[in-house]
Amino acid sequence: MKLGVCYYPEHWPQDQWAQDALDMVDIGISKVRIAEFAWSRIEPRSGEFDWAWLDKAVETLANAGLEITMCTPTATPPKWLIDQYPDIRAWDESGHPRTFGSRRHYCFSSKTYRKESQRISQAIVERYSANPAVTSWQTDNEYGCHNTVRSYSPNARQAFRIWLAHKYKTTDALNTAWGTVFWSQEYTEFDQVDLPNLTVTEPNPAHVLDFYRFSSDQVIAFNREQVDIIRNYSKADITHNVMGHFTRFNHYDLGKDIDITTWDSYPLGFLDQGWWTEAQKQRWMRAGHPDFAAFHHALYRACSGGPRKGRWGVMEQQPGPVNWAPNNPVPRDGMVALWTLEACAMGAEYVSYFRWRQAPFAQEQNHAGLRDHRNITARAEIEAKGLGNFLGALGKQDAAYNKIALIFDYETAWMFNIQPQSAHWNYEALCFDFYTALRRMGLGVDIISPQHDLTGYTVVIIPSLPIIPNDLLERAKAANAHIMFGPRSGSKTSDYHVPQTDPIPGINIIRSESVRASHVFDIEMDEQYYRGHIWRDYIQTDLTDADLTVANLKVEAECDDGTPAFVTSKDYSYLAVVPDMKFLRAVLSYVLDTHDIETTWLAKDVRVERTQTHGFAFNYGSKPVTLRNNFATGKFIQGRRTLPPAGVCVWEL
Ligand code: GAL
Repeated sequence: MKLGVCYYPEHWPQDQWAQDALDMVDIGISKVRIAEFAWSRIEPRSGEFDWAWLDKAVETLANAGLEITMCTPTATPPKWLIDQYPDIRAWDESGHPRTFGSRRHYCFSSKTYRKESQRISQAIVERYSANPAVTSWQTDNEYGCHNTVRSYSPNARQAFRIWLAHKYKTTDALNTAWGTVFWSQEYTEFDQVDLPNLTVTEPNPAHVLDFYRFSSDQVIAFNREQVDIIRNYSKADITHNVMGHFTRFNHYDLGKDIDITTWDSYPLGFLDQGWWTEAQKQRWMRAGHPDFAAFHHALYRACSGGPRKGRWGVMEQQPGPVNWAPNNPVPRDGMVALWTLEACAMGAEYVSYFRWRQAPFAQEQNHAGLRDHRNITARAEIEAKGLGNFLGALGKQDAAYNKIALIFDYETAWMFNIQPQSAHWNYEALCFDFYTALRRMGLGVDIISPQHDLTGYTVVIIPSLPIIPNDLLERAKAANAHIMFGPRSGSKTSDYHVPQTDPIPGINIIRSESVRASHVFDIEMDEQYYRGHIWRDYIQTDLTDADLTVANLKVEAECDDGTPAFVTSKDYSYLAVVPDMKFLRAVLSYVLDTHDIETTWLAKDVRVERTQTHGFAFNYGSKPVTLRNNFATGKFIQGRRTLPPAGVCVWEL
């Protein structure tokens, strides 16, 4: 695994560049990403290009032996361009154009911007594609950051109408799909359809879902235009740096068009900003949630090439305090190295730090780098420097062949956002809890889309999936994989209707409820007592029902009123409540035991990952922990069984 860094030559005097490059090489960095925000320096005025400085920067980095990831600079259209074509800007949900002065101030549906982004991409690709130092390309920067996927501009409305006409062909088909007879919303022309903002009350959910699908498709189409331009000139790898904890466009779709999905990993910022409890935030304030980075590593590993062979990396790794979370603490000493090695343990091709030197000016002046704003080595540089030789000696690590997959789905996230039906239902948190429980059992887990191939998986976990693809159960059966469904699975059709027949045979949900956060469902399973909360599906209990007999379902856990909380059959099981961690562990153990998958419950702060050749253990806690004897039986090549805070040990398998 290579190490990299994000560098902004345009922020520093030219006479500093050569030394910067040498210093990067000295600490083991071999890849540098540049130019993603440099449009105003590349083209200071319309049609007037200044390549001299960028040529010089490329030459300086290349002379030091560094590989370059060159970016298309389209995340920051310059002022002259916005003034010339104000229709480039996106509009927010309250119907106001967003202004110039930060970044990402463009609408994916602006035809002008699509042309301009192609023009600047073409110019930069023509200039550098033949340069052997440019070994990869990044398109734009973090699509969707700062809430920019969905735009409510006139351009978006026009493009949405075209998208709908293409999808439905006739307004009759649209009316049926959306159920517009409800509240007299029927349309006779596609041009009558507006965007679903500013309505008096809740807009039609199918209308919103289609708008979310359309908005995701616009991101994919925008990206593809740049990818096509790059591929016309170059065989170098193409990536885009996606974000963590972000669901507004379908990352599986984006990943298909690029060679490597990379992502920007800020474990402390995301913990502080996320849904975790105060106690969890306090516990992991200097480490990040032990599953946060891994969850995204696994998810993005599946995007470009599928979970088994997917190519991925970390484009921006948090090096110290960030500037954008409510609180921005310093990572515990050792965490930057731990995060880097955890990516390696999950098969990353590279980890690149954000950024080389802290900027002394502008919006991100409080964001750490490997060096501080005076060019003094910061803690992260010391940790990165310690890693280069070790990674070299470790050699190439291939991701493990996991037997467990967890399905994470973008449309599901959108649907629960459109009609949550509960103030406490949180799809991402639910998926995350399942992932945490599986990882605490010491298991390696792939995260996949509902469409991915299931071959090779013994158990497929679906925390929730309202729209179950027609062929999913068949595919699971053919792969001999057991599917475990969570609550609300199968509750909708792709048109956002309630299905007329049960998508999962035998699981006939006769009613569902959401409850106050303080309400607990008392559950019994195998004479043990557990709890569920937030949501309950009532499964029809008549075991003589034909479907139940066909599916051969058994009730394994019951709520105290006798309604099923967990039912199983050979091919699938269904969990009818949101479980607490103890119940989740119990139902997962049941399913895994039945399928002969061995588990070992890990200490709260410890996680283990295995590549095909090595085992890795990580201590996210503030106290030393000792691994149990059934872990790490091979020769240690780094660390030992007792892990200090932020400690990592690596052993041969
Ligand atoms: C990322 C972004 C970078 C920088 C960084 C700060 O979201 O891609 O440009 O803003 O966050 O943490």
